[in-house]
Amino acid sequence: MSVSWSTRPHRILPPVSDQVLADHASAAFAEAFSDAPQGVWVAPGRANLIGEHVDYVGGRVVPFALPYATAVAVRIRDDDVVRCTSTGPQPDWTGRVGDVGPGSPAGWAGYAAGVVWAMAYHDTIARMPGIDIAVSSTVPQGAGLSSSAALECAVALGVAELSGVATDDTGRAVLARDCATAENVVVGASTGLMDQSVSLRARAGHAMVLDCAVGGVDHVALDGVNPKLALLVINTNAPHRLVEGGYGRCRALVEQACARVDRRVLHAVGDVQDMVDLATLGAHHLRRPLRHVLTEFRRVDVAVDRLRAGELAAVGPLLTASHRSLRNDLQVSSVELDLAVEAAVGAGALGARMIGGGFGGSVLALTEVDRIPVVAETVLRAAREAGMPEPRFLAATCAAAARRVY
Ligand code: GLA
Repeated sequence: MSVSWSTRPHRILPPVSDQVLADHASAAFAEAFSDAPQGVWVAPGRANLIGEHVDYVGGRVVPFALPYATAVAVRIRDDDVVRCTSTGPQPDWTGRVGDVGPGSPAGWAGYAAGVVWAMAYHDTIARMPGIDIAVSSTVPQGAGLSSSAALECAVALGVAELSGVATDDTGRAVLARDCATAENVVVGASTGLMDQSVSLRARAGHAMVLDCAVGGVDHVALDGVNPKLALLVINTNAPHRLVEGGYGRCRALVEQACARVDRRVLHAVGDVQDMVDLATLGAHHLRRPLRHVLTEFRRVDVAVDRLRAGELAAVGPLLTASHRSLRNDLQVSSVELDLAVEAAVGAGALGARMIGGGFGGSVLALTEVDRIPVVAETVLRAAREAGMPEPRFLAATCAAAARRVY
């Protein structure tokens, strides 16, 4: 008797409806604060189709919002008390407005309270108010799927709406900036703008082409473009941490390398070999980071063209090439990520690559729908045989941007 895909132990983590997630946050709010929130907002985690480690040097990236999200129940207070609670294992945090700022509070409350601080810092709101926040999330933490951006963006949208701040696309671009400031200044992770932008500005069914040089977005259809193909997120369960050193060191190298090249060359269209003679760059340790950026810029250009032409299958080899570049030239991959990519492609996936900052986290694979069980089985077996943590699988369809539930 054949066993159906959905009954296998590695079945895809089921997304939870907005309503259920919001109810969890609301119940946590009532339990912790003996009161009802003024509203509940959800914001999605993300995957990135292509364009990795180029957002902070003005490149184009093609992320999409996942159907896994964070719900935040919010009440703005009349005093200066700040209270954060969650349905997760993290400890609650209580402090005062004056306790929130660069480097404080530590831990997850830094993302939640830090956003409100950053909104005041940038004058998006007049001043930081006291606030009660309760959080519930289905975005796996440490999986490179932007659980932190989802939290920041749900808080930002909630506070913006309760404060009468514009939340059209232009307003959301401002909020994305505020969320990134919270992450950079309060939490101390030097991340770019990609994750917060897609969580706040995505369109359901579409990937978002974000031009990080100017902040402009365009949406290109992804779900249903080729019903025979699917994207699968493989969470290797080997945790990645952006606050630790690897991401910051990599970013510094990439920025130094790009600073040595004329911006017109960086953004010119054409073959990278014609653009810049890498050997003339002098500093040896900057050549490879630069080659990653230049080749990733081209891969993004080709991928966006192929997507616009409805040729999703053609994106597969670009994903695998992007992984190779991240592994070899940028050295931000890990043995678990490499193994998952190799196993997925070996099992017939059209392409696969690590996504997000790297040093652990998740892989995105493009595969025929019919091959999902074989790809997943092969990835699982490879991890088991190598004595690595058991990977988990998530549906990579394109969800909507952050929204109010009630
Ligand atoms: C993390 C950061 C993003 C981006 C990616 C790498 O997800 O938050 O800004 O730099 O890594 O592409």
